[in-house]
Amino acid sequence: MAEYKIIGGNPLIGEVKIEGAKNAVLKMIAAAVLSDEEIILENVPKVSDVQSMLQIFKDLGGEYKEEDSRLILNGAKIHSYKLNEEITKKLRASIVFAGPLLARFGRVQMFHPGGCSIGPRPIDYHLKAFTQFGAKIKNYDKYYEISIRKPKGTTIYFDDVTVTGTENALLFSVLAQGESSIRLAALEPEVQDLIALLKKMGANIKFHSFGRYEVRGVKKLHSAKHKILPDRIVGATFAIIGAATNGHIRIKNFLPEHNDLFLFKLKEIGVPYQIYQDVLEIFPHKSLKPTKIVTRVFPGFPTDLQAPFSLLLLQAEGKSRIFETIFDSRLKYLLELKKMGANIEIIDNHNAYIYGPSKLKGCEIKSLDLRAGATLVGAALMAEGNSTIYNTELIERGYENFSQKLVLLGANIKELS
Ligand code: EPU
Repeated sequence: MAEYKIIGGNPLIGEVKIEGAKNAVLKMIAAAVLSDEEIILENVPKVSDVQSMLQIFKDLGGEYKEEDSRLILNGAKIHSYKLNEEITKKLRASIVFAGPLLARFGRVQMFHPGGCSIGPRPIDYHLKAFTQFGAKIKNYDKYYEISIRKPKGTTIYFDDVTVTGTENALLFSVLAQGESSIRLAALEPEVQDLIALLKKMGANIKFHSFGRYEVRGVKKLHSAKHKILPDRIVGATFAIIGAATNGHIRIKNFLPEHNDLFLFKLKEIGVPYQIYQDVLEIFPHKSLKPTKIVTRVFPGFPTDLQAPFSLLLLQAEGKSRIFETIFDSRLKYLLELKKMGANIEIIDNHNAYIYGPSKLKGCEIKSLDLRAGATLVGAALMAEGNSTIYNTELIERGYENFSQKLVLLGANIKELS
């Protein structure tokens, strides 16, 4: 268990460079199962979820080399279709090994994936997609066994948009015989980046119309090199914490086209900023206005930014509303903010009102998941006095050197483990 000791009150000042996107690279590691040639990834973030995915890859027989932020994956010696129970239960992304293993071996044995505690994380959309492709699913006490005679393309429909579900369908269909059409598919930039890698490997994928990918299966995928897109959630988190401490920071590797609605919301509440190509500069503000945040699939407001954005709502003058539509239990961090003195009314698992401006005071709080953890660090930096945040190892699952980057911006954080 790790913890941070934080003394709040310093506005953040300086420049921070954003790493590659966690939610893109994790799926690319699974994509390397599809080829027996080298896949080279650049701009790979140093986060613990990447290490967990690499452990699974190795456990299946895959080989890899890490060279600073480069990762060289080779799936030639993959021999197993069984996912390791202990590691797959650690993270949600482990489920995207199912599609490639099913395409390569015609079978996969897997456990229900774990992940952040943000509410139930069912996998019925994944299983239904595999069933539509013709797979047979056996649900044993502890694990699932999925098998298919001959991977063949077809049209599949999701009940609702799912990021990892779409990725699994893509990762299966690129090697399935014939044509597949994936309907009600996710459009997140990380899904697009996975598609970009798959195309470099020789896959035939076309974006047809809103929420629909058309895939023509190929016999073999070959080696490829790909630079991972910058992490839009990490970039926006730094922008928020910079603004929440009323600081002046420059965020490098920030792609505005991936953060459209977030930038609109920043402007709407009165955070002054400027964009120069891939740099976002946040300036100090005088006062902030309240607003409403409704989380939606891309291009809507990302659920992963719902918690961080609350830091700005805490300072806005008046009543703001949060409506979390994606996950059932992603408002629990608000209880921690209340301990710090925030004036918040939690209506139910999806709705809350924030009354600002709130003066926060330092206290002992607990990180509940990766985004909530980053949010509490921001809250402690805004607060008067000392805070201790527990379970900060959760933050390192998806933010590379988070505390060190903040310290370079002038934050007073000590890491203990
Ligand atoms: N859902 C089902 N059944 C399924 C799959 C999903 O009911 O089989 C529901 C979920 O419960 C949720 C909604 O569908 O209500 C959307 O879930 P989705 O499948 O899109 O989420 P995910 O693929 O498990 C990814 C990211 C999350 C991010 C969400 C939404 C990864 C590894 N995780 O999760 O990232 O919040 O998409 O954008 O890509 C994070 O990075 O902190 C994180 C939680």
